[in-house]
Amino acid sequence: MRRSITVRVPATSANCGAGFDVLGVALDLYNELTLTLTDEPTLDISVEGEGAGNIPRDEQNIVWSSVRFLLKQAGAENYFSGGQLRMKNAVPLSRGIGSSAAAIVCGLKAANVIIGNHFNRGELLNIATQIEGHPDNVAPAIYGGFTVNVTENGKAHCFTFLPKLRLRLVAAIPDFHLPTREARDVLPQNVAREDAVYNIGHAAMLVAGLMNGSERFVSLGLNDAMHQQYREKLVPGLNDVIVAAKTTGALGAVLSGAGPTVMAYCSGRIDAVAVGEAMKGAFAANGVAARIMVLGVDNHGAHIVNR
Ligand code: HSE
Repeated sequence: MRRSITVRVPATSANCGAGFDVLGVALDLYNELTLTLTDEPTLDISVEGEGAGNIPRDEQNIVWSSVRFLLKQAGAENYFSGGQLRMKNAVPLSRGIGSSAAAIVCGLKAANVIIGNHFNRGELLNIATQIEGHPDNVAPAIYGGFTVNVTENGKAHCFTFLPKLRLRLVAAIPDFHLPTREARDVLPQNVAREDAVYNIGHAAMLVAGLMNGSERFVSLGLNDAMHQQYREKLVPGLNDVIVAAKTTGALGAVLSGAGPTVMAYCSGRIDAVAVGEAMKGAFAANGVAARIMVLGVDNHGAHIVNR
């Protein structure tokens, strides 16, 4: 037996300011995977684009281990003995824009389609969360749009919506990697009550502003008191880059996920390229080279590519 499918999965930006470990948005930047499952006990992996030089091409590969994990969960681990993975990656690695979530969801989505959609999206979310450890990147990678994610009694739940205002998201992507584990290690175990209250309020305000199309409330909601201040030492110039984006007209700017990318939220009226140049300049003034991508919100999530 030999079955093949091509899927595309978006990059994602978690936290979105105050929504630490809770909010995430899908971006119109994609990794593509063509997965072929076969009877031959061989593994053949090729990677084009981002990470082509350093992504493992053996059993350690995260896309392949996600494929195996899903087959096992479905009781289908003996249906196929090997596979061929053709990956075309546009999502930069270890930069805080969801490369590991995209890899995991590519593997899960493709394997799930091949075995006849054994799992629904909610189940895929829970499998992906088990692998990634937190839902705020895998949820938007699966569902698309803006997502609010909570875990209740060990089960992940995702509310997804599209913002009512036209947003462009300007990513300033530094040329260094920041492993999520390292960026979590600098966070305090406990937070002050006023910081918790600040973030609850601002995260709720951001969601309300996005759903209602209110630039003022989106702008307010993008402020954070729970993680960015601690991560600034790992991302030289973080605050300067945020200020530069706002000064050039962005509604706000945030550390994307665990960083080091900084994401500016711009309304349709603003010159997003100018915002990007200002962010790049602020990073450069702090000795950090960065590239700029002007992105939109993806509203599909993981999907099959029809040839
Ligand atoms: N919410 C996570 C963090 C995202 O900020 O650590 C990691 O990708």
